[in-house]
Amino acid sequence: MLKHLPPGPWGLPVLGYLPFVKGEAPHIHFKDLAKKYGTMFSTRLGNQLIVFLSDHKIIREAFRREEFTGRPHTEFINILGGYGIINSDGRLWKDQRRFLHERLRQFGMKYIGAGKEHMECRIMGEVETCLKHLANQKGSPTDLNPILSMSISNVICAIMMSVRFQHDDSRFNKFMDLIEEGFKLFGSLEAINFIPAMRYMPWFQATRKKLAQNRLEMSEFFQETVDNHRATFDPSNIRDLIDTYLAEIQNAKEEGRGETLFEGKRSRRWMQQIIGDLFSAGMETVKTTLQWAVVFMLHNPEIAKAVQEELDEVVGRSRLPKLEDIPYLPYTESTLLEVLRRSSIVPLGTTHAATRDVLLNGFKIPKNTQIVPLLHAIHMDPNLWDEPEKFKPSRFLSAEGKVTKPEFFLPFGVGRRMCLGDVLARMELFLFFSSLIHVFNFQLPEGQPLPSTKGNAGITVTPDSYKVCLIQRPLDAEFEFLCNSADSSLMRNVGSH
Ligand code: HEM
Repeated sequence: MLKHLPPGPWGLPVLGYLPFVKGEAPHIHFKDLAKKYGTMFSTRLGNQLIVFLSDHKIIREAFRREEFTGRPHTEFINILGGYGIINSDGRLWKDQRRFLHERLRQFGMKYIGAGKEHMECRIMGEVETCLKHLANQKGSPTDLNPILSMSISNVICAIMMSVRFQHDDSRFNKFMDLIEEGFKLFGSLEAINFIPAMRYMPWFQATRKKLAQNRLEMSEFFQETVDNHRATFDPSNIRDLIDTYLAEIQNAKEEGRGETLFEGKRSRRWMQQIIGDLFSAGMETVKTTLQWAVVFMLHNPEIAKAVQEELDEVVGRSRLPKLEDIPYLPYTESTLLEVLRRSSIVPLGTTHAATRDVLLNGFKIPKNTQIVPLLHAIHMDPNLWDEPEKFKPSRFLSAEGKVTKPEFFLPFGVGRRMCLGDVLARMELFLFFSSLIHVFNFQLPEGQPLPSTKGNAGITVTPDSYKVCLIQRPLDAEFEFLCNSADSSLMRNVGSH
């Protein structure tokens, strides 16, 4: 028999269930509601109907369907005006996602084939600069956050605009402050997504104005870079993603489709939003996962030791690990997979929306319903994972010692809107983590307690800030860095002129 909406808790008039989502982090609250109401439950937050999914099979089934590729049309999305890749939907999103995916592959975001080595070398250049910087701390208590922010930003900025920042660069610090403030301001607007009437409140207007000012400042920086590219553009030498867009805009004009490219949206703003989207999706996530990796190694020194032993045996002490070593490093790889599972840094995925009335698993889901995949709940489900609270890399190893990923392991989401940067993310995570642990022992500063594994829920779940002592492990006399491309003249060093 056809059911109606999935079951779920009732709320108050106007506010719906919103006032009850308090206390613990939302992803923990929704995980508990899933236990009570089942793997598909619904509720109203303000005026929005939300369906929460915590069965990986239902999520897979839903997210491979076109009807679930929408994004909610909330106040937040209205501010973005349909620009960019993360928050757009429909035909434009589909075409642009395909375009970006193909171009990013051409720049080496792929596991096999030509171009991969180039990307690996770019990342390793940043890894090596990061290692040198950390070695200079000489084992003193160090906050990894600033150095990782800079290194991971430089990877994504190189792909997008052939730019890298120098350490201790004031322009970079300003840029990071703007991004961080943007995250917070957007977070503070969250309630308006559910109760649109709040948009008339004076504080909302003030927040919106501040956001607009920040965006203007950011876009001035981006635009300067785009203008530089335009001045030196050579269609036979595509240097980065900005050049790719300039070539596409030129082709579209020549083919008489200039007016319809980006569905008539301004190409200048389109490029700015794509750069902003890739930067915010690709920096915070990788940096946070690496910070979690160190937290879990501090909690589990025997696991850190086992990773180091595997690396010593397979890679040796005269070089850093490479992507081609991965098939011979199952324990190192499964440790990273366990970091991704246990930290679930995007605990609620990114909200989807139904583009029309649809049926899912026998339930009716009206058009525009928001769909939230409870990725954290799946990764911590005791029916799927033995002792899910425990950090156990061996759960990703088969009896023969081979790496196996169960179908309910979804750190990058699944389906048509799955993470666009998963290949790059996995390359970065492996190269940074394996190099860091190969070169250093991680130690807690004397007298400091272990950093909590609980995490702070924001747009991503981040660990509490902590310091770690990086004690250098002995390397062979013939040890050398192979890829220090970060210092090469190919890249324009921002702040160096
Ligand atoms: C550890 C690192 C990362 C994690 C855990 C992660 C996770 C995710 C998740 C869960 C989603 C939502 C999927 C959905 O809507 O169903 C997503 C979307 C996305 N990610 Fe990532 N991500 C990571 C790194 C990256 C990197 C390095 C990039 C950039 C190059 C990137 C670019 C994107 C983009 C553009 C989207 C939106 C795709 C769309 O809406 O069509 N991510 N990511």
